[in-house]
Amino acid sequence: MVTAVYPGSFDPATYGHLDIIKRASLSFDRVVVGVLHNSSKSPLFSVEERVNILEKATKNIPNVLIRPFDGLSVNFAREHDAQVIVRGLRAVTDFEYELQMAQTNRVLAPDVDTVFLTTSLEYAYVSSTIMKEVARYDGDLSKFAPPEIIQALQDKLQEEKSK
Ligand code: PNS
Repeated sequence: MVTAVYPGSFDPATYGHLDIIKRASLSFDRVVVGVLHNSSKSPLFSVEERVNILEKATKNIPNVLIRPFDGLSVNFAREHDAQVIVRGLRAVTDFEYELQMAQTNRVLAPDVDTVFLTTSLEYAYVSSTIMKEVARYDGDLSKFAPPEIIQALQDKLQEEKSK
């Protein structure tokens, strides 16, 4: 039984993230998606909201679990008896940061391997940051995420505006 964890901020999840989750679910027996609680990136959505969004979006994939986490990804992996950390690689610009993270995680936990899945070409340009920017200027979001996530994002931005 091989368990993989897929840690990230998911603020909010995009088609790119969902593609990685779906493909990881085909390669591993169990995939535990870890939603980072205290991100230094000051997330737009609370961790509960981000977990909820991902739970709805992955409800049809039986071997995927969504869990919040705090602290190190390798500790999250160990808590779930995972042998693998999955990360998506979009472009060369991701590589340096991802390599450094994978090497750090390897030093911290030599028993946990990082596996990179290359993002499907149609989502190579998609990121939560870019999606939020397009949303703030009322751009077309249909290529970034499923309709329920777009709705959640628009509602959240509206809520922020009216504060
Ligand atoms: O979706 P993101 O923001 O690119 O995900 C980054 C994440 C959550 C995978 C990374 O920041 C992380 O692993 N944070 C937990 C702290 C940690 O384990 N740091 C050591 C690796 S550098």
